[in-house]
Amino acid sequence: QPTLAGLAERHGRYFGSATDNPELSDSAYTRVLGGEFDMITPGNGMKWYATEPQQGVFDWTAGDQIVDLARSNRQRVRAHTLVWHSQLPDWLTSRQWTASELRAVLKKHITTEVRHYRGKVYSWDVVNEAFNEDGSYRDTLWYRTLGPGYIADALRWAHRADPHARLYLNDYNIEATGPKSDAYYRLAKDLKAAGVPLDGIGFQAHLALQYGYPTTLEDNLRRFSRLGLDTALTEVDVRMQLPATAEKLAEQATWYRDVTAACLAVRRCVGVTIWDYTDKYSWIPAVFPGEGAALPWDEELRPKPAYQALREALR
Ligand code: G3I
Repeated sequence: QPTLAGLAERHGRYFGSATDNPELSDSAYTRVLGGEFDMITPGNGMKWYATEPQQGVFDWTAGDQIVDLARSNRQRVRAHTLVWHSQLPDWLTSRQWTASELRAVLKKHITTEVRHYRGKVYSWDVVNEAFNEDGSYRDTLWYRTLGPGYIADALRWAHRADPHARLYLNDYNIEATGPKSDAYYRLAKDLKAAGVPLDGIGFQAHLALQYGYPTTLEDNLRRFSRLGLDTALTEVDVRMQLPATAEKLAEQATWYRDVTAACLAVRRCVGVTIWDYTDKYSWIPAVFPGEGAALPWDEELRPKPAYQALREALR
């Protein structure tokens, strides 16, 4: 039977999964990872703490391992992420920078990392999680020191370093229309008008049954398409309060089906990525105690109802 990727390809879309380096020694895990998906996102290996652990000292070990594995499985890579407020190395967060110092540090990081992966990755999440829930700029090291222009600068530097990579802004809680999603809409419009190299918006889609389904997702994706941008669902998972019951798993399955259908319904929604594929390696239980079971395969790597629902949506 065709894989999720095979089904997605018939629609001109990809179907991807995140992964992380420690899991790659699990051969039952890598078998499904290599077989079922055609797009891979490194969950941590390309983040700043991993790639520039000391100033000016770059380490590509983790990212390269995933890029090499993806290549051997004929998968593409959504590279993640260049500018974020989280998982930064201590040397960067433990001192004060002037704007011109920090600008130089950021430019060098982006240029060096994007150049290293030039021609090897499909896209970059250039800036991750830039806005608060109310649509104001998140108060990060970058915003505080450089002002909002850091986003356009980052996109321009990334584009110069790899003119073929698709460049994204990526965030969570922007699946439904609302103040945070509107902030991206306005920013994207302004960036396009200014000729800044922005190619797409990534909708993470870390969903939770207890908060309700984002019913405006499809319309929301469509309004970004109309700006001439790609969209993608980049980190999908659907968590629930544990224990997982048959009822909750059935509800979760309809959510996986519906987010996938929403992407297929919007011409420039290029694909769907789940934030790893098995509950065995989900980030949820560590961060939301008492919650989990968020992915389409269970902890024993058995497909859940959500997996069948994905297949249905892609059929
Ligand atoms: O590397 C250390 C290791 O040395 C130590 O032994 C271990 C003990 O806890 O922690 C390891 O670091 C962990 C790191 O992942 C690498 O495994 C951190 O504690 C843990 O917090 C970190 O979590 C990552 C999280 O981003 C950090 O915010 C998740 O794996 C990763 O899946 C998650 O991904 C983010 C996206 O980048 C952006 N969108 C949200 C998404 C979920 O939070």
